[in-house]
Amino acid sequence: MKVLVAGATGALGKQLVPKLVARGHDVVGMTRSESKRQLILDMGAAPTVADALDPDQVARAVATAEPEVIAHELTALSDSLDLRHFDRTFAMTNRLRTEGTDHLLAAGRAVGISRFVAQSYAGWPSARTGGRVKTEDDPLDPTPPDSMRASHDAIRYLETAVTGADWTEGVVLRYGGFYGPGTALGPDGGETVEMVRKRKFPVVGDGGGIWSFVHIEDAADATVAAIEHGPRGIYNIVDDEPAPVSEWLPAAAAAVGARAPRRVPRWLGRVLAGEAAVVMMTEVRGASNLKPKRELGWQPRHPSWRDGFARLAA
Ligand SMILES: NC(=O)c1ccc[n+]([C@@H]2O[C@H](COP(=O)([O-])OP(=O)(O)OC[C@H]3O[C@@H](n4cnc5c(N)ncnc54)[C@H](OP(=O)(O)O)[C@@H]3O)[C@@H](O)[C@H]2O)c1
Repeated sequence: MKVLVAGATGALGKQLVPKLVARGHDVVGMTRSESKRQLILDMGAAPTVADALDPDQVARAVATAEPEVIAHELTALSDSLDLRHFDRTFAMTNRLRTEGTDHLLAAGRAVGISRFVAQSYAGWPSARTGGRVKTEDDPLDPTPPDSMRASHDAIRYLETAVTGADWTEGVVLRYGGFYGPGTALGPDGGETVEMVRKRKFPVVGDGGGIWSFVHIEDAADATVAAIEHGPRGIYNIVDDEPAPVSEWLPAAAAAVGARAPRRVPRWLGRVLAGEAAVVMMTEVRGASNLKPKRELGWQPRHPSWRDGFARLAA
C-alpha cells in the first residue's frame, strides 16, 4: 500500500517507517525540514517537506503522494516537559492534534484515502474515577484540572474527528508511555532517565497513579497492524502490566542504576510541580490492551515494562 507518515522523523515515526518498508509498503515520510530528507531516504521512504499547520502545504504533499493510508504521528513533545505549565508545554502538540488533524483529513479526503490512523494517548485523558484499568469504552476525564484543559480538549477533538470521519476507516491509537530507543526513557538516556538519575522525579503522595507503558517498537508494530487492517475505532496500545507509580518508578531507578526516588507528600508535590504532576502521580488510570490483541491481532513483544526497563540498562 502507499502510506504517508506525517511525523516520519519522530520517536514513533523512526520505528514505524522501516517496519512499513520491510513489509513492502511504498512509504512517503513527511517532515518540515529540508535537512531531514536524507534521514527519510535512509529509512527506505520518499521524503516530502511540508508544515503540518499549513493547509496548502499539506494538501500539496498529500495530492502529490496520493496515499491510500495516512498515519498522523505528529507531536512536539521532545523538549522538556514542564508539568507545572502543562497546556503551555502541550500547546504545539495540541495544534497538531486539532489543526494538523483537520488538514490531514481534508487532504486525505481529496485523494480518497481508505484509512486514517492517528496518535492519541492512554493515561491522563481517562476519567480518574472507578477501576484502575480502563477500556476504550470508558469515559474520558469530564473534569480535568484547569492547567490540562486545553490538552484534554485537543485529544477529544482528534479522537472525535478521526473516528467520526465516515468516508474513511478512522483509527485512533492511544499509546501508553513510550520507552525504548529514541524516547525519554531510552537505552542511551533521555529526559526521564536523567531526571530519575538526578532524583528529580519523586514519588508523590502514595504514588497510586496507574501508568501503562509500551515499548516504542511494540507501538510501531501495532501501528503497522492498524495501517493494514482492523475496524474503525479507538485502541489502547499498551503493555500487559499497568502499574502504580510507587512500583514502576523505583524499578526504573534501579534499572538505570540510580538511588531510590525521593518521596514527597501531595501538598509538597503540588507546590513543587503543580496540580497536573500530582494528578499524574496519584490519580491517573491505566489501560487494557485486550481490544487491539483481539481486533488487530497485535501482541506486544515486550509484555511487561518490568523486563523492558531491566533490558534498557543491559
Ligand atoms: N508522543 C508522546 O505522547 C510523548 C509524551 C511524553 C513524552 N514523549 C517523549 O517525547 C520524545 C519524542 O516526542 P515527539 O515524538 O513528539 O518528538 P519529535 O521527535 O519532535 O517528533 C515529532 C514529529 O512530528 C513532526 N512535526 C512536528 N511538528 C510538525 C509540523 N508543524 N509539521 C510537520 N511535521 C511536524 C516532526 O517532524 P520534523 O521535526 O521532521 O519536521 C517529527 O517527525 C520522546 O522522548 C518521547 O518519549 C512523547
